[in-house]
Amino acid sequence: MPAAQEPKGAAADKKPSQRRRRGGKKHPKPDGDQRRREKQEAPTEEAPQEPVQRSRGRRNRNPQKEPEAKKLEEDSDVLLAFGALLKTNDPAAAAAHAAYERHEDQARFIEDARRLLAMSPSERKAMVQRAPPGMAMPPPPPGIGRSPPGSPRRVGAPAAPHPGSPRRNGPPPGLVPSVDHLPPGLAALALEVAAEGNPPPGISRSPPKPTDDDDVAAALSALISGNTPEEPPPKPKKKWEPPRVHVRRGGRVSFTAPDGQKGPLRPRARLDVSWELRVDEDVEVGSRRDVSVGLFRVGAPTNDAAIVAKQGKGTVEETGLARGAVAFFAPRAAGAFVFRLLDPEPPGQQQKPKSERPKASSNVYATSDKLDVVVRTHDDLLDSLKASLQQLEEPGRSRLGALQQLAVVAETLPASLAPKRLTHVGGRSGSSAEKKCREKLRACLARCLDELAKNVPGPLTLATRRRADELPFDVDETEEDALTRERAWSVLSEEDEVAARDAFEQQRVAKIKKQRNDDRRARDVHAACRRLCAAFNGNSASRQWLESAAPEQARRLDDVSTRWDALLEEFWPGGADGVAALRRHYDRADSFFRPTHQPSAQQHGFAWRALDDACARVLPQLFPSENFFKRREEVRRRVEACLNNADVLGNGRRLVLRVFGSSANLFGAEGADLDMCVVPAASEEDTELSSPEVCRRVGEALESAGAKNVQVRDTARVPIVLFADPQTGLDCDVSTHNPLALRNTELLRAYAKIDGRVRGMAYVIKKWAKIRGINSPSDGTLSSYGYILCVLAFLQTVPNPPILPSLQRLDLDWPNPKNPDRPPPERVPHPFDASRDVCLSFHDPDKTGSLADLREIAGRNRQSLGELLALFFRHYAWDVDYRNLVVAPRTACVLPKANKAELDCWPQNPHLAIEDPFETHYDVAHVLKYPKHQLVRKEFMRASKLIDDAAAQRVDPDLVLDYICEPLPVPDQVM
Ligand code: CTP
Ligand code: MG
Repeated sequence: MPAAQEPKGAAADKKPSQRRRRGGKKHPKPDGDQRRREKQEAPTEEAPQEPVQRSRGRRNRNPQKEPEAKKLEEDSDVLLAFGALLKTNDPAAAAAHAAYERHEDQARFIEDARRLLAMSPSERKAMVQRAPPGMAMPPPPPGIGRSPPGSPRRVGAPAAPHPGSPRRNGPPPGLVPSVDHLPPGLAALALEVAAEGNPPPGISRSPPKPTDDDDVAAALSALISGNTPEEPPPKPKKKWEPPRVHVRRGGRVSFTAPDGQKGPLRPRARLDVSWELRVDEDVEVGSRRDVSVGLFRVGAPTNDAAIVAKQGKGTVEETGLARGAVAFFAPRAAGAFVFRLLDPEPPGQQQKPKSERPKASSNVYATSDKLDVVVRTHDDLLDSLKASLQQLEEPGRSRLGALQQLAVVAETLPASLAPKRLTHVGGRSGSSAEKKCREKLRACLARCLDELAKNVPGPLTLATRRRADELPFDVDETEEDALTRERAWSVLSEEDEVAARDAFEQQRVAKIKKQRNDDRRARDVHAACRRLCAAFNGNSASRQWLESAAPEQARRLDDVSTRWDALLEEFWPGGADGVAALRRHYDRADSFFRPTHQPSAQQHGFAWRALDDACARVLPQLFPSENFFKRREEVRRRVEACLNNADVLGNGRRLVLRVFGSSANLFGAEGADLDMCVVPAASEEDTELSSPEVCRRVGEALESAGAKNVQVRDTARVPIVLFADPQTGLDCDVSTHNPLALRNTELLRAYAKIDGRVRGMAYVIKKWAKIRGINSPSDGTLSSYGYILCVLAFLQTVPNPPILPSLQRLDLDWPNPKNPDRPPPERVPHPFDASRDVCLSFHDPDKTGSLADLREIAGRNRQSLGELLALFFRHYAWDVDYRNLVVAPRTACVLPKANKAELDCWPQNPHLAIEDPFETHYDVAHVLKYPKHQLVRKEFMRASKLIDDAAAQRVDPDLVLDYICEPLPVPDQVM
């Protein structure tokens, strides 16, 4: 949790280890016993979270450090400090190290190191620049002795290699400096510093305890060579480029099979792609206008990932359109694809290798309909398997893509291709073709399982996810590592320490980024494998192939399918072990596994009724009193008058404050804030002031009128001022240009009127989300608006029969016959995004007089509020395919995420995504990053589990709502 959110007095409650490290205090060099004691006291369980604070040591420098830092009497101190300096990529330190490697003269090296440590970074830099080429170190200044070349070594003798002692990279055995003169504690310290370098794969980070001189010598060798200057220079920062821009109105692209075949095509089928593009008015008729036509997998996130792109030559016609056609082949592997119309590649690029070509154009003038490619014959199957296997085996190609390809084949394989029915197809003998398919399938599956095994979560991953809202952080640095590091830094000069801390910080950030990427990749691999398992289990032809080709792998796939943990999106490494690991790391581990039975009235009826009774008890307290609207209206009027008096729109223009959100949409409870929006009083009048400017003026006006806690957020997507009304203490906000919020408030209000269960559910869900700490967009969780959209989408799709229709899809004339003369709903420009337009039309039952009909239809569903709530929690806990589907109350049906990825560049990640009913390109849940998505989903699972427990009499059914809405423990009790 960020430090800013810590409760007051948290510093005083810190554990001793945390206080110590925050101080960045120079530690007295401890002996081995003392360090052991420190380690025992350290709470190792919490170590992963603490480096966040540790990295701030730079600001907390110990003023007494300086005089001590210069005391480099002991050679061991010099070595420690030099090791830390080397890690900053200091060129002089690198040169000294190189010189040591050449001359193997330890005495000279120690002196060089001592001298370097006494210099400032700029002096060292100047010295390196002055040095003649090839000369690693300049001659020492007068007064500092140096061993003459070839003089005998002053310190120690080369130690004999210890049988079995691990050698890290560095000078060969025998050439390392001996430390037999060092006290044992310092020798161990040197070992630890050495271990902070980059140990070769397979060698643990924690340093081995010194067993004899040779180990110590080897460790010292690693200390100076663990971070050699040969590291590649940091890559220049990549300039951010937008992934692509859709300009969908500019053109059209479509495809046809030459034989006119409709529907899915076979792999490698011939295709004719035709396109047209509107050109500028000043382009001459008959002139050339070329484009590039790219074939992409549906939802491919950039235009650089075309499977194949071809140049399309077009001619401008009198209609102002350039037209052309290109011949294509469908891809070899099954799947869903689209064609995109792009700017042409500059001439001469196509001959160049792919890596040297410039990025594809970011303009997409048109996207075709979906092209489905499915396996129809035995030859197709063999081709598809070959393509996937090639992709799985060739280095540098996307394994993930191959796993997905295989899953598509397994999902769509027709029953006629089941192995037992394979006969003579395409000129090959059925049995030999069947054999080849089996071989390829076996090889593919082995690769898939290898890939899965590579990405199984280890104990570290588990530890870092102990709390879902925490990110992996320095998990492999132990308490002792950190102390050693601090000690190494403490003997450096101030400037060098700053450089060392910066270098460490950079490495730490790089490590965290890598860890996150690995995590993301693991999640993707696991999701692809899950899809593959589901495909083999769901398609009987594929299942038969699997069992006949690879019975052993079929058994393993079945086994891993049962160990799928939906919250973590992972398979567990081993049955009992995996579950045991999970139990150790999560408080309520058993709530994360998918319930084995579908809910039924017989089993759950009792719990549903109890939940229903509980809702009937709490709802009257949640619904607003009569005073609710009266009080809010008074505040609105007062604020409106205040803003008009202050002339916030300028030039005497009058404004009206309109209420939106829960104070107007019939989902408001006592204690909700009052959301208001500035609207010019005369609709034709528009202020010359920009929205942020009006926002600032509103803030000033409110401040001078005595409003409390005024916060002006003029850079937000919708500029807004937050404040507390001084008379009533009510939390309010005023946004300056928010017509879409006014409109969606009307939509929500219309839904609320259709059936009492809509409001009932929304009130309970809002209460639950607030009390469980998952209703705060500023903390990365979902807004109340988001939860209400989830409730609406649920009531449209899950109850049987559905309770709500989509008011945006329902005809405006319903229940009367459609009026053929009515023009189609108008699209208007988006209020603050000129490149888009929006459709604000919906069927408003109040205006059309259809409320009674809608109520009658909703009433055909007899499910109780208790049952609906139980199904709601279960639906969002277990049934929603978050990776592939979007919650969309606009459509009242499932909306594939791939479509949103294709049209609006939404990421295809496993997070909850909610389409805004009017701004369809806007994901209301975009604030949810993966850990918060997990947190929210965990709460759905918890609630669902509690209801299941109530049904099984493990929890008192009368108290189940109280348990579901149980307040979170205060932070100190969490860990
Ligand atoms: N809104 C929006 N887009 C969002 C979030 C909110 O348009 N991403 C608008 C909606 O009109 C919503 C209003 O802002 O009704 C207020 O949002 P929110 O505070 O989340 O919902 P309320 O219904 O006001 O809930 P609460 O009772 O918690 O204030
Ligand atoms: Mg609100």
